[in-house]
Amino acid sequence: MSEVPEYLNRRQVLKALVGGAVGGTVGGTVGTLAATKLVHASSEVTSSIPAKLPRLPERPKNISPEMLAKDESFWAQVALNYDKARGIVNLEHGYWGKMSKQVQQVFIEKTEMVNTQLSVYGRKHFSNDLKNSAHKIAQALGADSDEVVITRNATESIHNLMRQYNDFNANDTVLFADIDYPSFKETMRWLAKTQHVKPVEVTLPAQTNQAEILNLYITAFDENPNVKLMLLTHVSNQHGLILPVADIAKAAKARGIDVICDCAQSWGLLDFNIAELNVDWAGFNLHKWIGSPVGVGALYMKKGTLDKISPYPGETDPTNTLAHKRVHTATSNFASILTVPAAIDFHQSLGAANKEARLRYLRNLWVEEVKKLPNIEVLGGEDDASSTGMGAFRTKGKVSLDDAKMIQQRLENEFNVFTVVRVGLASGCCIRVTPQIFISAEEMKQLTLALKSL
Ligand SMILES: Cc1ncc(COP(=O)(O)O)c(C=O)c1O
Repeated sequence: MSEVPEYLNRRQVLKALVGGAVGGTVGGTVGTLAATKLVHASSEVTSSIPAKLPRLPERPKNISPEMLAKDESFWAQVALNYDKARGIVNLEHGYWGKMSKQVQQVFIEKTEMVNTQLSVYGRKHFSNDLKNSAHKIAQALGADSDEVVITRNATESIHNLMRQYNDFNANDTVLFADIDYPSFKETMRWLAKTQHVKPVEVTLPAQTNQAEILNLYITAFDENPNVKLMLLTHVSNQHGLILPVADIAKAAKARGIDVICDCAQSWGLLDFNIAELNVDWAGFNLHKWIGSPVGVGALYMKKGTLDKISPYPGETDPTNTLAHKRVHTATSNFASILTVPAAIDFHQSLGAANKEARLRYLRNLWVEEVKKLPNIEVLGGEDDASSTGMGAFRTKGKVSLDDAKMIQQRLENEFNVFTVVRVGLASGCCIRVTPQIFISAEEMKQLTLALKSL
Protein backbone atom coordinates (compact mmCIF):
# COMPACT_ATOMS: atom_id res chain seq x y z
CA MET A 1 0.00 0.00 0.00
CA SER A 2 1.19 3.52 -0.75
CA GLU A 3 2.64 5.49 2.19
CA VAL A 4 0.93 8.61 0.93
CA PRO A 5 -2.83 8.66 1.55
CA GLU A 6 -5.20 9.10 -1.35
CA TYR A 7 -6.15 12.53 -0.04
CA LEU A 8 -2.65 13.90 -0.43
CA ASN A 9 -2.28 12.30 -3.83
CA ARG A 10 -5.33 14.21 -4.88
CA ARG A 11 -3.94 17.38 -3.44
CA GLN A 12 -0.71 16.89 -5.33
CA VAL A 13 -2.73 16.23 -8.46
CA LEU A 14 -4.64 19.39 -7.69
CA LYS A 15 -1.46 21.43 -7.39
CA ALA A 16 -0.12 20.06 -10.64
CA LEU A 17 -3.41 20.88 -12.32
CA VAL A 18 -3.32 24.43 -10.97
CA GLY A 19 0.07 24.84 -12.66
CA GLY A 20 -1.31 23.37 -15.89
CA ALA A 21 -4.42 25.49 -15.84
CA VAL A 22 -2.54 28.71 -15.25
CA GLY A 23 0.06 27.87 -17.87
CA GLY A 24 -2.49 26.89 -20.48
CA THR A 25 -5.30 29.36 -20.04
CA VAL A 26 -4.22 31.87 -22.62
CA GLY A 27 -6.92 30.86 -25.05
CA GLY A 28 -5.84 27.20 -24.96
CA THR A 29 -8.11 24.13 -24.90
CA VAL A 30 -5.64 22.33 -22.64
CA GLY A 31 -6.09 24.99 -19.98
CA THR A 32 -9.88 24.71 -20.14
CA LEU A 33 -9.78 20.95 -19.83
CA ALA A 34 -7.32 21.13 -16.98
CA ALA A 35 -9.49 23.63 -15.15
CA THR A 36 -12.57 21.44 -15.55
CA LYS A 37 -10.71 18.40 -14.27
CA LEU A 38 -9.33 20.46 -11.43
CA VAL A 39 -12.78 21.41 -10.21
CA HIS A 40 -13.90 17.79 -10.31
CA ALA A 41 -10.83 16.66 -8.43
CA SER A 42 -11.30 19.33 -5.76
CA SER A 43 -14.97 18.91 -5.16
CA GLU A 44 -14.53 15.16 -5.03
CA VAL A 45 -12.13 15.38 -2.09
CA THR A 46 -13.69 13.31 0.63
CA SER A 47 -13.55 13.74 4.37
CA SER A 48 -10.69 11.24 4.76
CA ILE A 49 -8.22 12.20 7.49
CA PRO A 50 -4.98 13.75 6.23
CA ALA A 51 -1.75 11.96 7.19
CA LYS A 52 0.35 12.95 10.23
CA LEU A 53 -2.62 14.24 12.19
CA PRO A 54 -3.59 12.47 15.39
CA ARG A 55 -6.35 9.90 15.24
CA LEU A 56 -9.03 9.10 17.76
CA PRO A 57 -7.93 6.40 20.21
CA GLU A 58 -9.38 2.90 19.99
CA ARG A 59 -12.28 2.50 22.38
CA PRO A 60 -11.95 -0.32 24.90
CA LYS A 61 -14.41 -3.08 23.92
CA ASN A 62 -17.74 -3.51 25.71
CA ILE A 63 -17.47 -0.34 27.72
CA SER A 64 -20.51 1.84 28.36
CA PRO A 65 -20.37 5.58 27.56
CA GLU A 66 -20.69 6.27 31.31
CA MET A 67 -17.65 4.12 32.12
CA LEU A 68 -15.67 5.55 29.21
CA ALA A 69 -16.52 9.05 30.44
CA LYS A 70 -14.30 8.46 33.50
CA ASP A 71 -11.29 7.19 31.55
CA GLU A 72 -8.92 10.21 31.72
CA SER A 73 -6.25 8.57 29.56
CA PHE A 74 -8.75 7.90 26.75
CA TRP A 75 -9.98 11.50 26.83
CA ALA A 76 -6.41 12.83 27.03
CA GLN A 77 -5.78 11.07 23.71
CA VAL A 78 -8.99 12.51 22.30
CA ALA A 79 -7.76 15.96 23.39
CA LEU A 80 -4.66 15.51 21.20
CA ASN A 81 -7.03 15.86 18.25
CA TYR A 82 -7.60 19.52 19.13
CA ASP A 83 -5.37 22.59 19.23
CA LYS A 84 -5.77 23.74 22.80
CA ALA A 85 -5.05 27.32 23.85
CA ARG A 86 -2.75 27.66 26.82
CA GLY A 87 -2.88 30.16 29.64
CA ILE A 88 -6.45 29.91 30.88
CA VAL A 89 -8.89 27.12 31.65
CA ASN A 90 -11.63 27.86 29.14
CA LEU A 91 -15.01 26.74 30.45
CA GLU A 92 -17.02 28.78 27.96
CA HIS A 93 -17.65 26.41 25.09
CA GLY A 94 -21.32 27.26 24.67
CA TYR A 95 -20.52 30.10 22.26
CA TRP A 96 -19.19 27.98 19.44
CA GLY A 97 -17.30 24.71 19.20
CA LYS A 98 -13.81 23.78 18.14
CA MET A 99 -12.98 21.91 14.96
CA SER A 100 -10.77 18.89 15.51
CA LYS A 101 -7.38 19.15 13.78
CA GLN A 102 -8.62 16.80 11.07
CA VAL A 103 -11.73 18.84 10.40
CA GLN A 104 -9.71 22.05 10.45
CA GLN A 105 -7.34 20.55 7.88
CA VAL A 106 -10.24 19.69 5.58
CA PHE A 107 -11.58 23.24 6.05
CA ILE A 108 -8.21 24.70 5.05
CA GLU A 109 -8.09 22.49 1.96
CA LYS A 110 -11.63 23.44 0.99
CA THR A 111 -10.87 27.12 1.54
CA GLU A 112 -7.81 26.84 -0.73
CA MET A 113 -9.81 25.04 -3.38
CA VAL A 114 -12.68 27.55 -3.36
CA ASN A 115 -10.29 30.49 -3.32
CA THR A 116 -8.43 28.99 -6.28
CA GLN A 117 -11.47 27.99 -8.31
CA LEU A 118 -13.87 30.80 -7.45
CA SER A 119 -16.90 30.96 -9.73
CA VAL A 120 -15.81 28.01 -11.89
CA TYR A 121 -16.31 25.83 -8.83
CA GLY A 122 -19.24 27.85 -7.50
CA ARG A 123 -21.24 27.89 -10.74
CA LYS A 124 -20.53 24.35 -11.86
CA HIS A 125 -20.16 22.18 -8.79
CA PHE A 126 -21.20 23.83 -5.55
CA SER A 127 -24.88 22.94 -5.84
CA ASN A 128 -24.04 19.23 -5.87
CA ASP A 129 -21.71 19.57 -2.91
CA LEU A 130 -24.35 21.61 -1.06
CA LYS A 131 -26.85 18.81 -1.64
CA ASN A 132 -24.31 16.30 -0.43
CA SER A 133 -23.74 18.25 2.81
CA ALA A 134 -27.49 18.71 3.34
CA HIS A 135 -28.01 14.98 2.79
CA LYS A 136 -25.29 14.21 5.33
CA ILE A 137 -26.98 16.48 7.89
CA ALA A 138 -30.38 14.93 7.21
CA GLN A 139 -28.96 11.42 7.63
CA ALA A 140 -27.23 12.35 10.88
CA LEU A 141 -30.46 13.86 12.23
CA GLY A 142 -32.55 10.91 11.07
CA ALA A 143 -34.57 13.12 8.69
CA ASP A 144 -35.31 12.84 4.98
CA SER A 145 -33.15 14.98 2.70
CA ASP A 146 -36.15 17.04 1.56
CA GLU A 147 -36.89 17.97 5.20
CA VAL A 148 -33.55 19.72 5.76
CA VAL A 149 -32.17 22.99 4.41
CA ILE A 150 -28.70 24.35 5.14
CA THR A 151 -28.62 27.83 6.69
CA ARG A 152 -25.83 29.96 8.21
CA ASN A 153 -26.80 29.38 11.81
CA ALA A 154 -29.67 28.41 14.10
CA THR A 155 -30.82 32.02 14.28
CA GLU A 156 -31.42 32.22 10.54
CA SER A 157 -33.40 28.95 10.68
CA ILE A 158 -35.59 29.97 13.62
CA HIS A 159 -36.09 33.60 12.61
CA ASN A 160 -37.30 32.45 9.16
CA LEU A 161 -39.77 30.04 10.76
CA MET A 162 -41.20 32.70 13.05
CA ARG A 163 -41.36 35.44 10.45
CA GLN A 164 -42.83 33.20 7.77
CA TYR A 165 -45.43 31.41 9.96
CA ASN A 166 -48.75 32.21 8.29
CA ASP A 167 -51.52 30.47 10.21
CA PHE A 168 -52.60 33.03 12.83
CA ASN A 169 -56.22 33.98 13.47
CA ALA A 170 -57.61 36.78 15.64
CA ASN A 171 -57.28 36.00 19.40
CA ASP A 172 -54.46 33.49 18.90
CA THR A 173 -51.62 33.29 21.41
CA VAL A 174 -47.87 32.59 21.01
CA LEU A 175 -46.05 30.92 23.87
CA PHE A 176 -42.40 30.87 24.92
CA ALA A 177 -40.43 30.58 28.17
CA ASP A 178 -37.90 32.54 30.22
CA ILE A 179 -35.26 29.88 29.55
CA ASP A 180 -35.48 30.41 25.75
CA TYR A 181 -32.71 32.13 23.76
CA PRO A 182 -33.04 35.90 24.37
CA SER A 183 -33.19 36.86 20.67
CA PHE A 184 -35.96 34.33 20.05
CA LYS A 185 -38.03 35.62 22.96
CA GLU A 186 -37.73 39.09 21.43
CA THR A 187 -38.75 37.75 18.02
CA MET A 188 -41.79 36.03 19.55
CA ARG A 189 -42.77 39.36 21.18
CA TRP A 190 -42.27 41.12 17.85
CA LEU A 191 -44.37 38.43 16.15
CA ALA A 192 -47.18 38.94 18.66
CA LYS A 193 -47.11 42.69 18.04
CA THR A 194 -47.03 42.54 14.27
CA GLN A 195 -49.57 39.69 13.96
CA HIS A 196 -51.87 41.13 16.66
CA VAL A 197 -51.76 37.95 18.77
CA LYS A 198 -51.12 37.57 22.49
CA PRO A 199 -47.64 36.73 23.84
CA VAL A 200 -47.41 34.44 26.89
CA GLU A 201 -44.12 33.74 28.68
CA VAL A 202 -43.88 30.63 30.88
CA THR A 203 -41.52 30.91 33.84
CA LEU A 204 -39.60 27.81 34.88
CA PRO A 205 -38.05 27.47 38.36
CA ALA A 206 -34.29 28.03 38.69
CA GLN A 207 -33.91 24.35 39.62
CA THR A 208 -36.35 21.89 38.13
CA ASN A 209 -36.98 18.44 36.68
CA GLN A 210 -38.75 16.79 33.73
CA ALA A 211 -42.09 16.17 35.49
CA GLU A 212 -42.30 19.70 36.86
CA ILE A 213 -41.44 21.29 33.50
CA LEU A 214 -44.08 19.23 31.70
CA ASN A 215 -46.70 20.16 34.30
CA LEU A 216 -45.88 23.85 33.98
CA TYR A 217 -46.30 23.75 30.20
CA ILE A 218 -49.59 21.81 30.49
CA THR A 219 -50.87 24.37 33.01
CA ALA A 220 -49.87 27.15 30.60
CA PHE A 221 -51.77 25.40 27.77
CA ASP A 222 -54.84 25.02 30.02
CA GLU A 223 -54.70 28.66 31.08
CA ASN A 224 -54.21 29.86 27.48
CA PRO A 225 -56.56 27.81 25.31
CA ASN A 226 -55.77 29.90 22.21
CA VAL A 227 -52.07 29.05 21.95
CA LYS A 228 -51.40 28.52 18.25
CA LEU A 229 -47.62 28.55 17.98
CA MET A 230 -44.96 27.84 20.58
CA LEU A 231 -41.20 28.00 20.84
CA LEU A 232 -39.63 25.13 22.72
CA THR A 233 -35.93 25.01 23.54
CA HIS A 234 -34.35 21.56 23.72
CA VAL A 235 -31.36 22.70 25.80
CA SER A 236 -31.38 26.18 27.36
CA ASN A 237 -28.42 28.44 26.64
CA GLN A 238 -28.72 29.79 30.20
CA HIS A 239 -27.93 26.76 32.34
CA GLY A 240 -28.07 23.72 30.05
CA LEU A 241 -31.50 22.62 31.26
CA ILE A 242 -33.03 19.89 29.05
CA LEU A 243 -36.74 20.24 28.34
CA PRO A 244 -38.92 17.15 27.87
CA VAL A 245 -39.57 18.24 24.29
CA ALA A 246 -41.32 15.07 23.09
CA ASP A 247 -43.80 15.07 26.00
CA ILE A 248 -44.52 18.80 25.76
CA ALA A 249 -44.90 18.51 21.97
CA LYS A 250 -47.32 15.60 22.41
CA ALA A 251 -49.48 17.70 24.75
CA ALA A 252 -49.20 20.63 22.34
CA LYS A 253 -50.21 18.53 19.32
CA ALA A 254 -53.26 17.23 21.21
CA ARG A 255 -54.36 20.89 21.47
CA GLY A 256 -53.53 21.77 17.86
CA ILE A 257 -50.48 23.86 18.81
CA ASP A 258 -47.65 24.13 16.27
CA VAL A 259 -44.14 23.67 17.68
CA ILE A 260 -40.85 25.30 16.67
CA CYS A 261 -37.93 23.69 18.50
CA ASP A 262 -34.60 25.41 19.14
CA CYS A 263 -31.92 22.72 18.98
CA ALA A 264 -28.98 25.14 18.75
CA GLN A 265 -27.38 23.87 21.96
CA SER A 266 -28.61 20.29 21.89
CA TRP A 267 -27.36 18.64 18.71
CA GLY A 268 -24.03 17.04 19.56
CA LEU A 269 -24.28 17.89 23.25
CA LEU A 270 -27.00 15.23 23.45
CA ASP A 271 -27.39 12.07 21.41
CA PHE A 272 -30.81 12.15 19.75
CA ASN A 273 -32.72 11.78 16.53
CA ILE A 274 -35.14 14.44 15.27
CA ALA A 275 -38.09 12.02 15.04
CA GLU A 276 -37.85 11.46 18.83
CA LEU A 277 -38.69 15.12 19.44
CA ASN A 278 -41.99 15.01 17.56
CA VAL A 279 -41.87 18.71 16.59
CA ASP A 280 -43.02 20.44 13.41
CA TRP A 281 -39.93 22.51 12.78
CA ALA A 282 -36.47 22.87 14.31
CA GLY A 283 -33.39 25.04 14.01
CA PHE A 284 -29.84 23.72 14.43
CA ASN A 285 -26.29 24.76 14.00
CA LEU A 286 -23.28 22.56 13.40
CA HIS A 287 -20.71 25.04 14.70
CA LYS A 288 -21.37 24.40 18.39
CA TRP A 289 -21.39 20.71 19.30
CA ILE A 290 -20.95 19.00 15.93
CA GLY A 291 -17.59 20.74 15.45
CA SER A 292 -17.99 22.18 11.95
CA PRO A 293 -16.41 25.49 10.93
CA VAL A 294 -18.42 28.56 11.96
CA GLY A 295 -21.27 29.45 9.62
CA VAL A 296 -23.33 26.30 9.19
CA GLY A 297 -26.88 25.87 10.43
CA ALA A 298 -29.82 23.71 9.46
CA LEU A 299 -33.56 24.11 9.23
CA TYR A 300 -35.74 21.04 9.72
CA MET A 301 -39.28 21.11 8.35
CA LYS A 302 -41.26 17.93 8.96
CA LYS A 303 -43.06 16.56 5.89
CA GLY A 304 -46.54 18.00 5.61
CA THR A 305 -45.79 21.21 7.52
CA LEU A 306 -44.73 23.49 4.67
CA ASP A 307 -48.10 25.09 4.07
CA LYS A 308 -47.91 26.98 7.39
CA ILE A 309 -44.48 28.49 6.66
CA SER A 310 -44.59 30.82 3.67
CA PRO A 311 -41.75 30.80 1.18
CA TYR A 312 -39.03 33.37 1.82
CA PRO A 313 -40.27 36.75 0.53
CA GLY A 314 -40.00 36.71 -3.25
CA GLU A 315 -39.67 32.90 -3.52
CA THR A 316 -42.57 30.75 -4.71
CA ASP A 317 -43.64 27.20 -3.95
CA PRO A 318 -47.22 26.73 -5.16
CA THR A 319 -47.41 23.09 -4.07
CA ASN A 320 -45.69 23.63 -0.71
CA THR A 321 -43.28 20.78 -1.28
CA LEU A 322 -39.91 22.57 -1.37
CA ALA A 323 -38.42 23.27 2.06
CA HIS A 324 -35.45 25.13 0.54
CA LYS A 325 -37.81 27.84 -0.72
CA ARG A 326 -38.15 28.96 2.94
CA VAL A 327 -34.54 30.17 2.97
CA HIS A 328 -32.60 32.55 0.75
CA THR A 329 -29.08 32.58 2.09
CA ALA A 330 -27.28 33.75 -1.06
CA THR A 331 -23.46 33.78 -0.99
CA SER A 332 -22.16 32.10 2.14
CA ASN A 333 -19.03 30.34 3.33
CA PHE A 334 -18.62 27.60 0.72
CA ALA A 335 -15.70 25.97 2.53
CA SER A 336 -17.65 25.71 5.80
CA ILE A 337 -20.48 23.92 4.04
CA LEU A 338 -18.04 21.63 2.22
CA THR A 339 -16.46 20.65 5.54
CA VAL A 340 -19.76 19.42 7.00
CA PRO A 341 -19.27 15.73 6.00
CA ALA A 342 -15.84 15.68 7.69
CA ALA A 343 -17.25 17.26 10.86
CA ILE A 344 -20.14 14.80 11.05
CA ASP A 345 -17.81 11.85 10.37
CA PHE A 346 -15.50 12.95 13.19
CA HIS A 347 -18.43 13.47 15.57
CA GLN A 348 -19.84 10.05 14.74
CA SER A 349 -16.53 8.24 14.96
CA LEU A 350 -16.11 9.48 18.52
CA GLY A 351 -19.74 8.60 19.16
CA ALA A 352 -22.53 10.99 20.14
CA ALA A 353 -23.39 8.97 23.26
CA ASN A 354 -19.73 9.00 24.38
CA LYS A 355 -19.51 12.76 23.97
CA GLU A 356 -22.74 13.30 25.86
CA ALA A 357 -21.61 11.06 28.73
CA ARG A 358 -18.17 12.69 28.99
CA LEU A 359 -19.64 16.19 29.10
CA ARG A 360 -22.20 15.18 31.75
CA TYR A 361 -19.37 13.61 33.76
CA LEU A 362 -17.33 16.83 33.62
CA ARG A 363 -20.36 18.84 34.78
CA ASN A 364 -21.04 16.45 37.65
CA LEU A 365 -17.42 16.81 38.82
CA TRP A 366 -17.96 20.48 39.73
CA VAL A 367 -21.69 20.41 40.46
CA GLU A 368 -21.48 17.62 43.05
CA GLU A 369 -18.76 19.50 44.97
CA VAL A 370 -20.29 22.94 44.66
CA LYS A 371 -23.79 21.84 45.71
CA LYS A 372 -22.34 21.28 49.18
CA LEU A 373 -21.28 24.92 49.50
CA PRO A 374 -23.73 27.06 51.50
CA ASN A 375 -23.08 30.24 49.49
CA ILE A 376 -23.54 28.84 45.95
CA GLU A 377 -26.74 28.01 44.10
CA VAL A 378 -26.43 25.54 41.19
CA LEU A 379 -29.05 26.19 38.49
CA GLY A 380 -30.86 24.05 35.95
CA GLY A 381 -31.68 20.34 35.99
CA GLU A 382 -32.13 18.61 39.33
CA ASP A 383 -32.12 15.14 37.79
CA ASP A 384 -29.93 13.48 35.14
CA ALA A 385 -32.69 13.60 32.54
CA SER A 386 -32.80 17.40 32.85
CA SER A 387 -29.07 18.19 32.84
CA THR A 388 -26.31 18.29 30.26
CA GLY A 389 -22.59 19.05 30.29
CA MET A 390 -23.50 22.73 30.35
CA GLY A 391 -24.33 24.16 33.78
CA ALA A 392 -24.64 27.41 35.71
CA PHE A 393 -24.48 28.84 39.20
CA ARG A 394 -24.73 32.09 41.14
CA THR A 395 -23.87 33.26 44.61
CA LYS A 396 -27.01 32.60 46.69
CA GLY A 397 -29.34 35.59 46.61
CA LYS A 398 -27.09 37.57 44.23
CA VAL A 399 -29.11 37.85 41.05
CA SER A 400 -28.11 41.17 39.49
CA LEU A 401 -25.94 41.57 36.41
CA ASP A 402 -23.27 43.31 38.50
CA ASP A 403 -23.22 40.41 40.99
CA ALA A 404 -22.75 37.87 38.20
CA LYS A 405 -20.12 40.00 36.41
CA MET A 406 -18.14 40.35 39.61
CA ILE A 407 -17.93 36.56 40.08
CA GLN A 408 -17.08 35.96 36.41
CA GLN A 409 -14.26 38.52 36.68
CA ARG A 410 -12.91 37.05 39.90
CA LEU A 411 -12.84 33.56 38.34
CA GLU A 412 -10.97 34.93 35.36
CA ASN A 413 -8.53 37.24 37.11
CA GLU A 414 -7.86 35.46 40.39
CA PHE A 415 -8.28 31.83 39.38
CA ASN A 416 -7.56 31.73 35.64
CA VAL A 417 -10.91 30.16 34.80
CA PHE A 418 -12.93 31.58 31.92
CA THR A 419 -16.75 31.47 32.11
CA VAL A 420 -19.58 33.71 30.90
CA VAL A 421 -22.45 35.67 32.46
CA ARG A 422 -25.93 34.84 31.18
CA VAL A 423 -28.89 37.21 31.39
CA GLY A 424 -32.45 36.09 30.74
CA LEU A 425 -33.71 33.73 33.43
CA ALA A 426 -36.69 35.04 35.37
CA SER A 427 -34.81 34.11 38.56
CA GLY A 428 -31.89 36.43 37.67
CA CYS A 429 -28.41 36.44 36.17
CA CYS A 430 -26.00 33.55 36.43
CA ILE A 431 -22.54 32.36 35.46
CA ARG A 432 -22.52 29.61 32.85
CA VAL A 433 -19.91 26.83 32.89
CA THR A 434 -19.42 24.80 29.71
CA PRO A 435 -16.56 22.29 29.40
CA GLN A 436 -15.68 20.64 26.10
CA ILE A 437 -14.57 17.07 25.50
CA PHE A 438 -10.89 18.09 25.50
CA ILE A 439 -11.14 19.53 29.03
CA SER A 440 -9.66 17.26 31.70
CA ALA A 441 -10.97 16.34 35.14
CA GLU A 442 -7.91 18.14 36.53
CA GLU A 443 -8.93 21.37 34.80
CA MET A 444 -12.45 21.07 36.23
CA LYS A 445 -10.85 20.94 39.69
CA GLN A 446 -9.51 24.43 39.12
CA LEU A 447 -13.11 25.69 39.01
CA THR A 448 -14.15 23.72 42.08
CA LEU A 449 -11.20 25.03 44.09
CA ALA A 450 -11.97 28.58 42.95
CA LEU A 451 -15.62 28.33 43.95
CA LYS A 452 -14.66 26.93 47.33
CA SER A 453 -12.52 29.96 48.00
CA LEU A 454 -14.93 32.65 46.81
C1 LIG B 1 -30.26 28.03 22.80
C2 LIG B 1 -29.65 28.80 21.66
N1 LIG B 1 -30.44 29.09 20.62
C3 LIG B 1 -29.96 29.75 19.53
C4 LIG B 1 -28.65 30.16 19.48
C5 LIG B 1 -28.16 30.87 18.25
O1 LIG B 1 -27.35 29.99 17.54
P1 LIG B 1 -26.56 30.51 16.26
O2 LIG B 1 -25.45 31.36 16.78
O3 LIG B 1 -26.12 29.29 15.54
O4 LIG B 1 -27.53 31.31 15.47
C6 LIG B 1 -27.81 29.91 20.55
C7 LIG B 1 -26.41 30.39 20.51
O5 LIG B 1 -25.73 30.51 21.49
C8 LIG B 1 -28.32 29.21 21.66
O6 LIG B 1 -27.55 28.94 22.71
